Amino acid sequence: MKTESICVRGARDLNDRTGAVAVPIYQSATFAHPGVGASTGYDYARVQNPTREPLERLVAALENGRECAAFASGMAAMDAVMWLVPPGSRMLATSDLYGGSVRLFSELAGRAGLRVDYLDTNDQKRLAAAMGPDVKAVFVETPSNPMMNITDLRAVRKTVGPDVMMVVDNTFLTPILMRPLELGADVVLHSGTKYLGGHNDTLSGFAVTNSQAIADRLRYITKTVGTGLSPFDSFLVIRGLKTLHLRVERAQATATEAALWLRSHPRVRKVFYPGLPDHPGRDVHSAQASGAGAMISFEVDSPRTAEKVLESVRFILYAESLGGVETLVTYPHLQTHSDVPPEKREELGITDRLLRLSVGVEAAEDILADLGRALGWGRGLRTASARRAWGRRARGGARRWALRESGLGLPAGERPGAVGGRATGNARRANWRGDVPEPGPACSGTRPPGPPDLRYPPSPQSPGQL
Ligand SMILES: Cc1ncc(COP(=O)(O)O)c(C=O)c1O
Repeated sequence: MKTESICVRGARDLNDRTGAVAVPIYQSATFAHPGVGASTGYDYARVQNPTREPLERLVAALENGRECAAFASGMAAMDAVMWLVPPGSRMLATSDLYGGSVRLFSELAGRAGLRVDYLDTNDQKRLAAAMGPDVKAVFVETPSNPMMNITDLRAVRKTVGPDVMMVVDNTFLTPILMRPLELGADVVLHSGTKYLGGHNDTLSGFAVTNSQAIADRLRYITKTVGTGLSPFDSFLVIRGLKTLHLRVERAQATATEAALWLRSHPRVRKVFYPGLPDHPGRDVHSAQASGAGAMISFEVDSPRTAEKVLESVRFILYAESLGGVETLVTYPHLQTHSDVPPEKREELGITDRLLRLSVGVEAAEDILADLGRALGWGRGLRTASARRAWGRRARGGARRWALRESGLGLPAGERPGAVGGRATGNARRANWRGDVPEPGPACSGTRPPGPPDLRYPPSPQSPGQL
């Protein structure tokens, strides 16, 4: 089956005698035994559950892996994988990981006797120099969160050799765009809370592997600790996965456009997106992934602008998380990466001017209009007429304007095809090499200009740090 078909059909039980098209929710904690020493294959839901199992098969198939274990969250999956590394050993990890991973590694891993050293995992010389007999695992995020640095996975495998367990967090790209097991990884991790679930309505996590020994150990951990995904949440992720390919393609097309647009904005200093032609990791990325994804980080001109954007977005939601159908903006230094020591954050570029955008599947026009409005606050765009002009660009001709200003638009006949040949429709036209889509039906401007006010009333509390 093709990837798209696996998304839609991969969980269905072909032997189901009821003809149910959707996988049922088996909300049963325990299962009756047909006889002494006999089992239906299901005994107790902490060990196995008939809704969780088809989901695990589906995610394994998408990642081209043999086995998958589904967890209650991405962090639960990561914690389980950490238990695979023997105490007293060392793990090497990408420097700008998701902040929760850093918290887990620096706090709990230390107590479990594991030392984690951070470095640029794409610097093969440094990686080789950091190796030693005590290094038992390497943990990579590519693109990294939030700086979008790229690591060459094949090169890492070569550098660390066959005996070091290589773990890749594939949350940002999903198996639609990259399959790390095919590039040398032993374990692929996902926060299924993000793209796999895709609707910001459930937490989940996955660990996929081709190694039976690793899979058995993960199952043992799930059974012992009880961190497996619940039947209802399994159902929600199965449902979300049915549209994974469509959502990723659509969000990526809009993200390409938004990255170009942001880059041209006078208040934006830098845009970090592997689809931009001058992204330093672009060539490596193109050799291992079929798209740049829909996550963008960008640095604005001042902390005040960053705060103003967060306070004034209306259509885009200022919220932690990513990968859902809704476009979200996050402030990494206060939210996702607040647990990274301040001097380390500064060194990595996670400053109080950096914002992270998870582009959703709404109309590109609404997303850009809201960004334009939020970035155009106050007197920064000097004159009222400059602000009005910017507003017009943001609302109406954003595409044409971004194309013209960036100088990146290629003539129609020269557009490169999507890498890997799996993207379709808009995504094929707006492939990650920095091409920009022609206006599609969803962006045809039939809505009145300006976003509706969908903002929640301001909360008296500051947002939590997750
Ligand atoms: C890249 C990445 N990995 C893992 C996680 C943790 O996942 P969860 O929130 O589902 O525990 C996150 C959460 O934001 C993430 O961004």
